[in-house]
Amino acid sequence: MSAPPYFNRLLQQLANDDSRIRAAFGKHVHWGYFADPGHTPVTADDYGRAAEALCLKMIEMADVSDGQKILDVGCGFGGTLSCLNARYSQLELIGVNIDPEQLQQAARLVRPRPGNNVYFMAADAAELVLADETIDLALCVESIFHFDRPRFLAEISRVLRPGGSLTISDFVPDQRATEFIEGIHLSAAEAVRSAYGSIDISWSLQRYQEVANSCNLCLTHGVDISSHTLPTYEFLRECVQSWEDTVEAKDFQRATNLLEWATRRQLVAYQLMRFEKKSP
Ligand SMILES: C[S@@+](CC[C@H](N)C(=O)[O-])C[C@H]1O[C@@H](n2cnc3c(N)ncnc32)[C@H](O)[C@@H]1O
Repeated sequence: MSAPPYFNRLLQQLANDDSRIRAAFGKHVHWGYFADPGHTPVTADDYGRAAEALCLKMIEMADVSDGQKILDVGCGFGGTLSCLNARYSQLELIGVNIDPEQLQQAARLVRPRPGNNVYFMAADAAELVLADETIDLALCVESIFHFDRPRFLAEISRVLRPGGSLTISDFVPDQRATEFIEGIHLSAAEAVRSAYGSIDISWSLQRYQEVANSCNLCLTHGVDISSHTLPTYEFLRECVQSWEDTVEAKDFQRATNLLEWATRRQLVAYQLMRFEKKSP
């Protein structure tokens, strides 16, 4: 297990102090939420604002309050932890990532406010080194498609207190489209693998419900925000134009176009979901 390939490039661009990349991806690395998706062109600052908006939507869905112990799994550069730290008090925040280099970046971004504590843990999401039933809320922003989902959901269920919740965002295929999605190798296509690393976007809502149930988790909220993510694709295409490695750029374009195509045809939806751990 290692960091996805797109992060190596991002870390390099941030180290070179690329101001456009810093504005768009210096805090969050995800698809963003564009309140007005018809407003184009999208600047790097617009993208950064959309990324913050998606994070806030997820925090709202998670129903965060002061005094909680919160886990952010696949925490990237710490954008979600930073939002939580700025808005709530008496928090215990834990950021988990497979990639220690991203955690170093996150530790620079998230300076705990007095009363808040922030910890970082280099670990695989499927093997959380945390005690049973100690976490109030878990968040996982656009990362779960990299994980071994059944093991991750079982781990989250183990560490959450009864009544605690997990809020995630993911690319979710329509149940009727799952066979088709697998048929066109949306997750396994070579371009997708080399651009985005090992991902699996074959889990429908039904599959989520079945596996979550078997882990004592219940899907309580689901919101399709696909239409608010569409400006992302054009912005990513534009970013790639400055890449020197044309093979890498072509793979990234191909992978991103494939995902946009599937989203525009409503074969795949960008979903926000919340699961609650059932009380005994
Ligand atoms: C698309 S990024 C999202 C980052 C962050 N949540 C955000 O919203 O900015 C996916 C993240 O998942 C992390 N990741 C990938 N596989 C992982 C694993 N098995 N365990 C923990 N983190 C993982 C990556 O290193 C990356 O930080």
